[in-house]
Amino acid sequence: MASFASLICHLLLSTLLLGSHLSLTIAQTATPPLARGLSWDFHRLNCPRLERIVRDELNKAFRRDIGLAAALLRIHFHDCFVQGCDASVLLEGSVAGPGEQEAPPNLTLRPDAIRLLNIIRERVHRECGQVVSCSDITALAARDSVVLSGGPQYRVPLGRRDGHNFATREDTISNLPSPRSTARQLIDSLRNKGLDATDIVALSGGHTIGRSLCTSFTNRLYPNQDPTMDQGFAQSLKRSCPAVDSNGSVMLDPQTPNLFDNRYYINLRNRQGLFTSDQDLYMDSTTRPIVTRFAENQRLFFERFAFSMIKMGMMNVTTGTQGEIRANCSRRNAPSGSTYFTAVLEEEGESAAF
Ligand code: HEM
Ligand SMILES: *[C@@H]1O[C@H](CO)[C@@H](O)[C@H](O)[C@H]1NC(C)=O
Ligand SMILES: *[C@@H]1O[C@H](CO)[C@@H](O)[C@H](O)[C@H]1NC(C)=O
Ligand SMILES: *[C@@H]1O[C@H](CO)[C@@H](O)[C@H](O)[C@H]1NC(C)=O
Ligand SMILES: *[C@@H]1O[C@H](CO)[C@@H](O)[C@H](O)[C@H]1NC(C)=O
Repeated sequence: MASFASLICHLLLSTLLLGSHLSLTIAQTATPPLARGLSWDFHRLNCPRLERIVRDELNKAFRRDIGLAAALLRIHFHDCFVQGCDASVLLEGSVAGPGEQEAPPNLTLRPDAIRLLNIIRERVHRECGQVVSCSDITALAARDSVVLSGGPQYRVPLGRRDGHNFATREDTISNLPSPRSTARQLIDSLRNKGLDATDIVALSGGHTIGRSLCTSFTNRLYPNQDPTMDQGFAQSLKRSCPAVDSNGSVMLDPQTPNLFDNRYYINLRNRQGLFTSDQDLYMDSTTRPIVTRFAENQRLFFERFAFSMIKMGMMNVTTGTQGEIRANCSRRNAPSGSTYFTAVLEEEGESAAF
């Protein structure tokens, strides 16, 4: 009896210690330092209902198509990785935009999601005036996509302004990681964006919702099957994608495709990660322990995901007097009384960069 009590006591104590160790880690990292020009309450006075409008519009839109949540989350990621979070990917004429979906690394941002951002922008500007940027709206929409899919609530620093530059083909190719990347390649290539191994593992957890075209991963099935892939999983992928160039798609997390949870990491442990860039996070000894912790502890994953999203959302932001508040997320504001930019845009197409 005494030894049983002491065992319980011991277990309780180690749980407490472990718990406090984890919460210490979280407390230290709950919020990354704010980038210059951003603040938590940037629109408190000039657009107090901003966050309610965004949430409300997304609630309506997701009732029709929950896939938009994944699409919006991915748009924010692409926006931040290419030139910093300045809504450049939303510009018509950007290579990361809907006009150039065939460009490598296969840019399949859903046009419906870009339209939705414009609908939100329209309502926000109707209520508050042209004071909120498309990049702030994109960051809030990504956060609410996570929340409305069952993921963590977190606050978004605001005050971004929209960039003048289109995302060129080189920008996109050199800044967006390939799904064929190994964990080591991700760590090495994202270091200069200020992201560490834990950020990479946490942010990759965004793959708990959404879908992928077959062509983004059939290299792991044909001609030879990737030996790190679970046999049953490979068979089911081959049924959905019977050839290298199949035009179908699959869900990134087939167990809970629209639920933001830590299932992604459990899948990785079962060798059911879809891309090499996913599965190798478990195969690599540097990132494996992080995958394991997130697979075992959803709360910890949520805390770290929120932290890393805030960090990603501040990458190379345009603030202060730089950039502009776009009147239409799909195009730059024309300088007053001039048709110059539209003319140049039409002439130079996607490669136009100002
Ligand atoms: C670490 C490097 C990453 C790579 C290599 C990568 C790669 C990809 C690829 C290839 C797709 C499928 C595209 C398609 O074929 O349709 C995809 C989808 C997606 N990614 Fe990532 N991704 C990465 C990081 C992220 C991050 C940081 C997030 C967000 C936090 C994210 C969120 C998503 C979402 C939500 C989808 C589904 C989009 C939809 O259903 O429309 N990814 N990713
Ligand atoms: C992805 O990019 C590769 C390389 O450019 C291309 O061959 C392939 O057709 C693209 N797939 C899609 C779905 O865009
Ligand atoms: C910001 O952009 C510069 C290039 O303009 C790049 O070298 C740097 O890595 C970027 N920083 C982050 C945090 O993205
Ligand atoms: C692509 O998909 C369409 C239907 O969405 C189908 O009719 C067509 O045969 C497919 N093409 C190939 C090459 O698989
Ligand atoms: C916004 O710009 C796009 C691209 O130029 C255009 O197609 C769309 O009609 C514009 N929307 C509004 C409301 O003006």
